[in-house]
Amino acid sequence: MVEAVGAGVTLKTVPDTQALAQAAADLICAAVRANPDLSILVATGNTPMPTYTELAQRVQHGEIDFSRVTAVQLDEYLGLTDDDPRSLWSWMQRSFVAPLGITRTVRLHTPEEFDREVAALGGIDLALLGLGPNGHLGFNEPPSPPDAPTRTVTLTPESLESNRVYWDGLPVPTGAVTAGMNLILSARQTLLLVSGAHKRAILRRTLEGPQTPDLPASLLRGTALTVLADEAAWA
Ligand code: GLP
Repeated sequence: MVEAVGAGVTLKTVPDTQALAQAAADLICAAVRANPDLSILVATGNTPMPTYTELAQRVQHGEIDFSRVTAVQLDEYLGLTDDDPRSLWSWMQRSFVAPLGITRTVRLHTPEEFDREVAALGGIDLALLGLGPNGHLGFNEPPSPPDAPTRTVTLTPESLESNRVYWDGLPVPTGAVTAGMNLILSARQTLLLVSGAHKRAILRRTLEGPQTPDLPASLLRGTALTVLADEAAWA
């Protein structure tokens, strides 16, 4: 089902996570077909994983070619060694870059270098995002104004808690670096993936509450935004 929720926002709801993965993969493949040299800002987290698996299957079946796409890292913890499997870089490699046969990447090390590399690419064509339980995008924690640059941040207790599930009891680093709100909001197209009943209240506020730095995801309204949600997240 497709609903319009105000200017610039298309909301599409699907029955479950598998249908979400299909619908998201359809949109991403259409964007890659339209522009094989697409630059994609890539979220990790649990929400997009079924989508990435679906994309990998389509690549394996020869339905789509990601070899000219550039994958741009969205966020990263601070203080991990390069080969630490907890790094979001490692997670992006395992789940997106390697299975899709992507050879061009931009890693988020230092904000200055990252912003330079993204500018040299001509910016971000497609931002693939998940919704933090507190409304964060990447690690743009509340409050993050629209002009918040790529920068290092301290994670909120809420984000430390929500990130704990990824690391099986290992401590979550308290510092991170994130692509700025300015970069995220400048993407030519944005796809926000939301699944699960635990995201229902924050998704409602994102789409229908006040647009405020206190809920960074609400600032996506007014950009070319498509929200894909399953019925648990948007009943
Ligand atoms: C995490 C990450 C984000 C991610 C979001 C949602 O903290 N920093 O990049 O999109 O929170 O994660 P999940 O999809 O696991 O709910």
